[in-house]
Amino acid sequence: MKPRVRAQDVWRLFLKHRAEVFWLEFAIIAAVGIGEALSLFAPIYYKKFFDTLYDAPAATPDVAQALIHSLLIIFVFHVGGWLVIRVATVLWNYTTPLVMRDLERTGFSSLLGHSTKFFANTFVGSLIRKLRRLSRSYEDVTEEIIWNLWPLFIFVTGSIVVMWSRSALISGAVLAWLVVLTVLNHYVFKYKSKFDEASAKADADVTGLASDAVTNILNVKIFGGQGYERRLFADRTDDLRRLQTLSWNIAEVNQTIQWGLIIMIEFFMLYYAVGLWQKGLLTVGDFALFQGYLTVLFWRSGDLGKMVRRLYEAVAQSKEMVEIIKMPQEIRDRRGADVLKVKNARIDFQDVVFAYTNKRKVLDQFNLSIRPKEKVAIVGSSGAGKSTIVKLLMRFHDLQKGRILIDGQNIARVTQESLRQQVALVPQESILFHRTLMENIRYGRRDATDEEVIQAAKEARCHDFITDMPDGYNTPVGERGIKLSGGERQRVAIARAILKDAPILVLDEATSSLDSESEHLIQEAFIELMENKTAVVIAHRLSTILKMDRVIVVDQGQVVESGSHQELLAKGGTYRKLWEIQSGGFLE
Ligand SMILES: Nc1ncnc2c1ncn2[C@@H]1O[C@H](COP(=O)(O)OP(=O)(O)OP(=O)(O)O)[C@@H](O)[C@H]1O
Ligand SMILES: [Mg+2]
Repeated sequence: MKPRVRAQDVWRLFLKHRAEVFWLEFAIIAAVGIGEALSLFAPIYYKKFFDTLYDAPAATPDVAQALIHSLLIIFVFHVGGWLVIRVATVLWNYTTPLVMRDLERTGFSSLLGHSTKFFANTFVGSLIRKLRRLSRSYEDVTEEIIWNLWPLFIFVTGSIVVMWSRSALISGAVLAWLVVLTVLNHYVFKYKSKFDEASAKADADVTGLASDAVTNILNVKIFGGQGYERRLFADRTDDLRRLQTLSWNIAEVNQTIQWGLIIMIEFFMLYYAVGLWQKGLLTVGDFALFQGYLTVLFWRSGDLGKMVRRLYEAVAQSKEMVEIIKMPQEIRDRRGADVLKVKNARIDFQDVVFAYTNKRKVLDQFNLSIRPKEKVAIVGSSGAGKSTIVKLLMRFHDLQKGRILIDGQNIARVTQESLRQQVALVPQESILFHRTLMENIRYGRRDATDEEVIQAAKEARCHDFITDMPDGYNTPVGERGIKLSGGERQRVAIARAILKDAPILVLDEATSSLDSESEHLIQEAFIELMENKTAVVIAHRLSTILKMDRVIVVDQGQVVESGSHQELLAKGGTYRKLWEIQSGGFLE
C-alpha cells in the first residue's frame, strides 16, 4: 500500500511549491548565470594583458596605458559579477525559506490527514524527522543546482567556446573529459542511490528507536532496561555507520578517479600547448587564458562528484516524506459529502463487520440501536471490541461491511469534521497537549472564553486542583499530560467534552483503578454532562452501570445481551458470569 516514489515525484513536489515564486527563482537563475558569464571575460583580458606585456618593446607609457586599460576592464567585469551575484543571494534568501516553509506545511498537514491506523503503524519520532528533513533537502537540492551545478555549466560552456577559438584540440579534450566525468558520475550515483536510501532509512530507524525509548522512559526505568536499550541503539547506529561508510567510500572512489584524471589531463594539455607555442600557434597570453580557465574548471568540476552526491542524497532523503505525502489518506471525505445534522441523536449500527487485520474480525454482524437521549452502558471482557465500537462511531476506521447511522445519516457519507463535532469522546487513556491547562480544556471549543473554560472546569471537578497548581490555569501539563495524575487527566478530558457540548457523548471509562474519590468526582461530572444527551459509556464499574438506562453485553463481535442490570443478572447469562468473575461486580 506504500506508493512507489521515484525521484521525479520529489522534483514534482518541489516544483509545485516553487510555482508561487517562479519568476523570482527565474531571476535568481538568470542573475547567477550572468554573474558567472561575466567572470568568463577575465581570462580573455588577462590574455590580452600578457600578450601586450610580452610584445612590448620597452616599458613605455603607451604600454602601461594599454595594460591598465585591460586591468580596468577586468575590474569592471568582476564588480559587475559581484553585484549580480549579491542580487541573486538576496532573492535566494527570500524565496528558499519561503518554499521550505510551504513544504513543511504541506508535510505537516498531510501527516495530520492520515488515519489513526497509519500512526499506529509508524514510529512517531522518525515521522517528525522525515517531516523536518524534507525542507532541509529542498535547501540542499536548490543550493547544489543553483549555486554549484548551474554556474559550473555556464563556466564550462563558455570556457570551451572561448578556448575553441584558440585551439580546437585542447578545447575538445576538455569537452571529452567532461562527458566522461558526467557519465561516470551518473552511473556511480545511480548505483549508490540504493545505499543512500538504505542509509536514510537506517537514520530514521535510529530516530524512531531513540524516541520510542524516551517515550517509554518509565518502562525502561521500571524494568532496568537501560543496558538493553543502549545495546539496541548501539546496533542501529552501527547499521547506520556501516551504510554511511559504504556510501561515502563509493563516492570517494569516484572522486579519486576524477582527480587522477584531472592531474593527467592538465599535464598533457599544457605539454601539448608548449608544442603549439613552439610552432608559433599560441602566444604567452594563451597560456594565461588556458590556465585561467583550466584551474577553475578542474577545481570546480573536481567537486562535481560531491555536488551530485549531495543532490542524490538530498533527493533520497526527501523521498521518505514524499512517500507519506503521496500515500492515499485512508479515511477521506467523499466528494460532496454532506454535513451531519443531528436533531435527536439516534445511533444505529447495522450489520457492522470490522477487522483491524484480516486474521480476526473484531466486530461481526454487529447490530445496536441507541434511542435518542438513551444512556447505554457497554460491557464485555477485555479485548471484546468495546473501544473499537467507539472508534468506529468516530470513523477512525472504515467498516468492512455494514453501516453506522446517526439520525439516519450514514457517517461514512458526511464530512469527518461535522461528524466529530457532534460527538464528544472522553477516551480510555486521556492524553493532553504539552500546553497549559487553559489551552488543553479550550481545545473542546476553541472560541470559548476564559470564563466558559473555567465554568467547564468547575463542572468537571477540575477547578480545585487547577487553582492549587503553581500557575493555576496557565500551568503547562507536560508532554502528554505527564504532570497530572490519571484521574486529573481524565477530568480535564471531561471538561473539554463539557465545553464541546455535543449532542452525543461517549465515555470510555479508564480501566486503571482510580482512587475512589477521583472516581466519584469523574462520575458526578459525567452524570451531569449526560443530561439531555445520547450517551454511551464503556463501563468498567458497577456504580456507572447502575446510572444507565440499559446495559449492552458485547462478546465475540456481537451484542449478546441487552437490558437493565437487574434483568441481566436475573437472566444468568454472560453478564452474570462477567459479574461473578470480577468478584463483587466489576471494579466496584
Ligand atoms: N490499532 C489496532 N490494530 C490492530 N488490532 C487492534 C487495534 N486496536 C485494537 N486491536 C485489537 O482489537 C481487539 C479489540 O480491542 P478494543 O480496544 O476494542 O478492546 P476493548 O473491548 O476496548 O478492551 P478493554 O476493555 O481492555 O479496553 C483487541 O483484540 C485488540 O488487540
Ligand atoms: Mg477499551
